[in-house]
Amino acid sequence: MTKQYEVLFSREQLAARVAELGAELRRDYAGKTPLVLGVLKGAVFFFADLLRAAELPCKIGFLTASSYLHSTESSGEVTVKMPNADEIRGQDVILVEDILDTGNTLYKLTRLLREQGANSVKTIVLLDKPDRRTADFSADYVGFTIPDAFVVGYGLDFDEQYRYLPDVVVLPQDTGK
Ligand code: XMP
Ligand code: MG
Repeated sequence: MTKQYEVLFSREQLAARVAELGAELRRDYAGKTPLVLGVLKGAVFFFADLLRAAELPCKIGFLTASSYLHSTESSGEVTVKMPNADEIRGQDVILVEDILDTGNTLYKLTRLLREQGANSVKTIVLLDKPDRRTADFSADYVGFTIPDAFVVGYGLDFDEQYRYLPDVVVLPQDTGK
């Protein structure tokens, strides 16, 4: 189905890496019941697969952070909607995000979660594009480090398209900016 696209990570590669990350979380959070927060919408496929792989007792929740306005360039400003402080206070939060790019989003979200009284805040990203980093931020767990290309599939979108693709692929040129 995704043959016409340039596949960066196949569904098999994604599943294998997600299984490893799940095992890491299971080991690192043994005896705890973290609050796992997925960043909508891009992280939902990764989030669900990761938590099934982790088999870790946890609570779940979601938040939204938007920094894109119909483009592949981050605007730098991040609009956030997150659970109330009383759901976050005292929790060991694991923030699950699809991709770490400039770092603005996760820098802001982790700061807000600490301000809301989280006991600990760790971040896990499927993909990391370190070449594009402008914020002083690194994730605690990274699936794959990738070069500076715009990628879609496995939850990641371009203008709401391509999320359904089971593989992570490079954005086709004719759709790009
Ligand atoms: P920042 O720059 O704040 O951005 O680290 C993180 C958010 O930017 C989006 N993003 C992408 N989305 N393909 C996508 O589908 C990409 O290659 C890409 N790079 C950044 C993504 O929404 C992430 O949450
Ligand atoms: Mg996102």
